[in-house]
Amino acid sequence: MASSGKFVIKGSANSRNLTGEVKVSGAKNDALPAFASALLFKDELNLSNVPAISDIDAMAKLLSGLGATVESEGGESGRPALPAGRWKVVLGKKISSTLDPEIAKRFRGSITLLGPVLARTHEVVFPHPGGCVIGERPIDIFLKGFEALGATVTEHDNRYHLKAPEGLHGAEFFFKYQSVTATETLMMAAVLAKGKTVLKNAAMEPEVIALGEFLIQAGAKITGLGSNTIEIVGGELLSGQNLVREIIPDRIEAGSFVILGALAGKNVAVKNLNANHLQSLTNTLTEMGVQLEIKPDQITILGRAEKLKPVNLRTHEYPGFPTDLQAPMAVLLTQASGRSTIFETIFEGRLGYLETLKMMGAQAWIHDPHQATVEGPTPLSGQEVVSPDLRAGLAYILAGIVANGQTIVHNVHYVERGYEKIEEKLAGLGVQIVKEG
Ligand code: EPZ
Repeated sequence: MASSGKFVIKGSANSRNLTGEVKVSGAKNDALPAFASALLFKDELNLSNVPAISDIDAMAKLLSGLGATVESEGGESGRPALPAGRWKVVLGKKISSTLDPEIAKRFRGSITLLGPVLARTHEVVFPHPGGCVIGERPIDIFLKGFEALGATVTEHDNRYHLKAPEGLHGAEFFFKYQSVTATETLMMAAVLAKGKTVLKNAAMEPEVIALGEFLIQAGAKITGLGSNTIEIVGGELLSGQNLVREIIPDRIEAGSFVILGALAGKNVAVKNLNANHLQSLTNTLTEMGVQLEIKPDQITILGRAEKLKPVNLRTHEYPGFPTDLQAPMAVLLTQASGRSTIFETIFEGRLGYLETLKMMGAQAWIHDPHQATVEGPTPLSGQEVVSPDLRAGLAYILAGIVANGQTIVHNVHYVERGYEKIEEKLAGLGVQIVKEG
């Protein structure tokens, strides 16, 4: 079977013997737009708590390609190395407007660069961004948003060319869907656009708020963060001297460990998280019969009812149930007593992983691209599987942990795009997992 790295997991069905503590890393989806925001600064941008994952390396390469000096733990010749998780980005005098197509295509988060590059250099050239195979992932909202701010859009040689020779100007823009990265990149563009921008039906995710709050600290005029209407009065570059932007805890990684604790653990403490960001998950788990102790920065899974209750899961924009936890949660639903339903409202290609769980013994039916039913409890058995994307890959790992026998998960580079030191962290809880190849 083709593979770029694989995890070999020895499952221990029904023993629920995982225990201990695990620390959550900084959030990929907060760090990526944080790096992109470097284009808004006249001097420097300092970041801390950045996760060591491959999407961040790709983002750093894109920024270097645009003319930035990017320093990290590894240091730069002649300079002392920064501590782990610390990064510093300084833009050069000459800033390119062209994103390296090979790198940008590799991950969807590259799209957060569009607004800052366009606003700073009055032009941006980029390919259709890639990322996980979880649906169509169009970019129409981005293009319409930049047009509203005064850019012209053309497409040739497999690349989009956005231009605003006179610079961007403020405007009112209504998002047809609450798009996270479109809100982030347009908010950043608006910081340098002249005049007032009003973003309506904007995303309210914690990552959007964290981004906006730091920009405010650095001098941006932004109001309405955390609501669906964000107003920005722009026109001036920001200053990042003497400021360090701390990346917020990864709520998806945190949620995945909490689900793992519910599946296979007792007294599992998930640390360094923000429990406020996980309320939809903790409410659902409590409803199912999982006993949790919730502190502001730590969730401990104490145990669970012998029979877990099934639930009707419906993904939703924040603060609703995150689409990125839908696949890991489905693994837990295979162990609940009775029929659960899953309604994936955000993406149309995000239920395919259920076919693999079925191969492992789950009873599941996919009704259409958005809806499925899972019936449990069913024992799972170890299989050789191929990770199709980051979150489904993690779900296969969780399934392997509670399956009988050995599970091999191929294509772990997907998982490593978003989860820092995942096998180390799992092994720390008692999971028998090794990486090969
Ligand atoms: C962000 O993706 C995250 N990625 C995703 O995490 C996450 O699943 C998603 O938000 C939803 O929470 C990053 O932050 C880098 P959207 P994003 O635009 O911004 C439609 C992960 O695993 N849409 O909020 O790309 C779109 O098809 C990733 O870490 C358009 O129609 O998602 C979807 O139905 C996967 N046109 C809806 O909006 C557009 O131009 C919301 O998607 C843009 C989006």
